[in-house]
Amino acid sequence: MPLPPVAATPANIDRAAAFLRAGQLVAFPTETVYGLGADATNSQAVAEIFRSKGRPTFNPLMVTIADPALAADFAELTPLATRLAEAFWPGGLTLVLNKRPDPALGFELSDLVSAGLQSVAVRVPSHSVARALLKATGRPIAAPSANRSGHVSATTAQHVATDFNAANAPALAIILDDGPCLFGLESTIIDARTEAPLLLRPGAVTVEAIEECAGCQIAVPAPAAASEQTTSRTSPGQLESHYAPAKPVRLNVTKPTSTQAFLAFGKTPPSQPEASAATVINLSEKGDLLEAACNLFASLRALDQAAGSSIAVAPIPEVGLGRAINDRLRRAAAPRP
Ligand code: TXA
Ligand code: MG
Repeated sequence: MPLPPVAATPANIDRAAAFLRAGQLVAFPTETVYGLGADATNSQAVAEIFRSKGRPTFNPLMVTIADPALAADFAELTPLATRLAEAFWPGGLTLVLNKRPDPALGFELSDLVSAGLQSVAVRVPSHSVARALLKATGRPIAAPSANRSGHVSATTAQHVATDFNAANAPALAIILDDGPCLFGLESTIIDARTEAPLLLRPGAVTVEAIEECAGCQIAVPAPAAASEQTTSRTSPGQLESHYAPAKPVRLNVTKPTSTQAFLAFGKTPPSQPEASAATVINLSEKGDLLEAACNLFASLRALDQAAGSSIAVAPIPEVGLGRAINDRLRRAAAPRP
């Protein structure tokens, strides 16, 4: 039975906080995508996230907090990390930092959260519901995107309800609904453990904006060989197939065929190359990358349900948010495991 989403009223946020403190799972909106939260200090609750998402346990979760100052209690902030946090927190930037050997917390993070790594990914969301929930819970929350592992992320509460039901997520107690997410793309993840930042995942905050703040270029780690993809060193940017709809995906298509569902971008000429496609959804007729990011995952889910045996995607410019959009699309098109 799917769990019906409920409006994110103050009363429902308080109920959700009580569920979290009791070790249950809660789905909630953030400015990027919906998150599936568990008390990060409760190993059983964290294990339940891996189980219900079908997520491999070598893939670590991020720790979500409301107060940026709390990060320094359990993670080592390098000078670079401090600069980035000041510029982008609260907001769509996640920092990978070394864990403090001597955490100054009144609680202990479950080792499962970091999948046994010495590092921890820290996220401080700006969404008012996420922040109210974190404050009411009074604990750090382990919160990956609220989708089944490998599937397209959820940008509405309804997407969460579609992915999770009582059979695969018995501990999911409540889905807080606050409408579609503002960005529709996950946070950018930067490894800020040294003064030489690494891009682990492009996302809601553009690489250009981060480079300007960091005062240096951001390197992209080389993709891991397939044989290394099951080791605990795997970083998120290195899992090849991800964000995948059920149908196969083809990229950089300008002339879709009648058996393809077409994901268009920008104005199409009057000759309308997509007229022959089985279905067409345009990410942004104006060619606006923010609008396109916002529509991306919902459009992939919709094309999966529409006519057409595969999904063909128009070229998207590789600048600003386009880099993050293309990253998700390349993974959606990658050979499936
Ligand atoms: O926008 C977001 O970041 C959303 C919302 C819900 O906050 N969350 C999200 O979480 O996208 P998730 O778990 O779907 O993706 C987080 C990524 C994972 O791919 C994981 O591999 C990586 O962060 N990650 C977590 N801890 C890490 C660590 N210590 N080192 C490297 N990568 C890490
Ligand atoms: Mg995810």
